[in-house]
Amino acid sequence: MKRGGRNESGKKLVSGGGAAAVACLLLPLLVLAVLKSDFMPQQVVHIAETSIGEAGVEGAIWQPRQQLVAKSKAAHDPVVEAPPSSPASGDETPDKVVDANRDLKNGKGFLVTNVGMDGSLIKSDADVAAPRSKLSCNFSSYRTNMCAMQGDVRLHGKTATVYVVSASDDNRPDNGTITIRPYPRKWETPTMQLVREVTIRWRAPPGPGAPRCTVTYDVPAVVFSTGGYGVNIFHAITDIIMPLYNTAREYDGRVRLVATNYDRKWIAKYRHALSMLSIYPIIDFDADNEVRCFPSVHVGTESHKELGIDSALSGKGYTTMGFRGLLRSAYSLKREWVTPIKSGRPRLVMVLRRNSRALTNEAEVIAAATEVGFEVVAAGPEVVRDLGKFAGTVNSCDVLVGVHGAGLSNMVFLPRNGTVVQIVPWGEMKWPAWTSYGEPVAPMGLRYVEYETTAEETTLKDVYPRNHTVFTDPVSLHKQGFNMLWETFLNGQNVTLDIHRFTGVLQHIYRSVTITS
Ligand SMILES: *[C@@H]1O[C@H](CO)[C@@H](O)[C@H](O)[C@H]1NC(C)=O
Ligand SMILES: *[C@@H]1O[C@H](CO)[C@@H](O)[C@H](O)[C@H]1NC(C)=O
Ligand SMILES: *[C@@H]1O[C@H](CO)[C@@H](O)[C@H](O)[C@H]1NC(C)=O
Ligand SMILES: *[C@@H]1O[C@H](CO)[C@@H](O)[C@H](O)[C@H]1NC(C)=O
Ligand SMILES: *[C@@H]1O[C@H](CO)[C@@H](O)[C@H](O)[C@H]1NC(C)=O
Repeated sequence: MKRGGRNESGKKLVSGGGAAAVACLLLPLLVLAVLKSDFMPQQVVHIAETSIGEAGVEGAIWQPRQQLVAKSKAAHDPVVEAPPSSPASGDETPDKVVDANRDLKNGKGFLVTNVGMDGSLIKSDADVAAPRSKLSCNFSSYRTNMCAMQGDVRLHGKTATVYVVSASDDNRPDNGTITIRPYPRKWETPTMQLVREVTIRWRAPPGPGAPRCTVTYDVPAVVFSTGGYGVNIFHAITDIIMPLYNTAREYDGRVRLVATNYDRKWIAKYRHALSMLSIYPIIDFDADNEVRCFPSVHVGTESHKELGIDSALSGKGYTTMGFRGLLRSAYSLKREWVTPIKSGRPRLVMVLRRNSRALTNEAEVIAAATEVGFEVVAAGPEVVRDLGKFAGTVNSCDVLVGVHGAGLSNMVFLPRNGTVVQIVPWGEMKWPAWTSYGEPVAPMGLRYVEYETTAEETTLKDVYPRNHTVFTDPVSLHKQGFNMLWETFLNGQNVTLDIHRFTGVLQHIYRSVTITS
């Protein structure tokens, strides 16, 4: 049974048996396709050059046209916004005959994909131009590769191919292919190997070069991957949901999300957030044998940093706080702000790990926090798993505590001015701990407290003598590579907190959330 079938299409113009009838109606309109006068050969040539060459991609642009028009970002966008060449430049071909017969010969039903830039079906006799397809890519980011296409763009999931169909077989047969793994962790080769590669066929000639549309949409599409390390909530937010926000939010829900490495469970888990980004069901790209046609498609998503959005990099003015606002709506979170508690106990949620970096004296730590005055919510993996519910639990709290690990990502649900306490495990882990769960805290409008465990507080001391490099020179182990760091300091230890020392830190936090200054 095929998922993402025809019934859930945004707008199905033509399919199945009706195809032939529609083809008969529209065929005459197609035989003579006239290139519109707004055709911008300069741009297309430039984009083609910068995008297709092996080395020449840097600096190419990636901005959907609607947005450019809407926001008049001309100054920021030298390539796409290059002034249209004058109609007399000679680079233009005013009359082009589309070889529609070739299409006809090749298939059972000739399907029309003559869709204008605004998604409307072009009906006027005098204006039967095939859409000008455009492609622009940006491969220069450290994190992500992205391409944006407009015009006549056809997705075939089963072969993981995106066809950017040329307006006609024009005088520049500079077709070619680009491949993208649509997951923004480019520098992590092993992660990227888990992501299905998508091939973009640029300037595929209509006819034999591109398959006929079986479903046609009037909204854009964003092709992304639910593969990679998406099972981990830190990666789910950093690598998938935030980048989707950066890429798809501008369409205000009227966009098709197309997932490769389609993971039904993942989509179910994050359905609240996803439903804010697209009002439609997510399309499973992997096994999809439909040819889905869109007026505009993004392959790859825009990513800036760990657990955050860099407003300086976001051409759309997005911020981490804006993203948090979206989550507040998605999960119906009640509290926007933590306010100083005047009566009753402030709430502290403790994210508890089980297999590594676990607190061996969990019960005593919880008792100590209760003693300090907090109402403690102990959140083991079974509690955290139900995200729809747990988001509300976190939002009901003032403080979130956890040992360095993905569970701290739940900070995105804390009310503003909430406090995040990161317990940093032994092994000179301050810097890696800071980049993932320290640096992102302030841009979320939260407060950060770090608790660095000592050699006395790690279970590594039960395994290694105190004169071992694990204690004398942990950095030398980092230098042996990520596997060593992972096995020794991330996977290889649990933490036994010094209750007295930790209580001191909790008392300080307690005062900061209860005393009105
Ligand atoms: C391409 O992406 C990089 C990194 O995100 C960005 O700094 C740059 O401005 C982009 N290039 C263009 C031309 O938009
Ligand atoms: C490019 O165009 C040529 C001639 O038009 C065609 O033979 C070839 O198959 C096309 N290649 C791709 C990758 O579309
Ligand atoms: C949030 O915290 C800052 C200082 O940490 C304080 O100045 C501000 O008043 C707090 N906001 C609210 C609404 O409590
Ligand atoms: C560590 O100390 C033990 C005994 O105290 C000694 O036998 C061993 O050689 C020492 N190892 C290192 C690496 O210094
Ligand atoms: C940490 O504790 C868990 C039990 O909570 C245990 O299964 C695991 O083996 C421990 N890991 C290490 C590295 O000590």
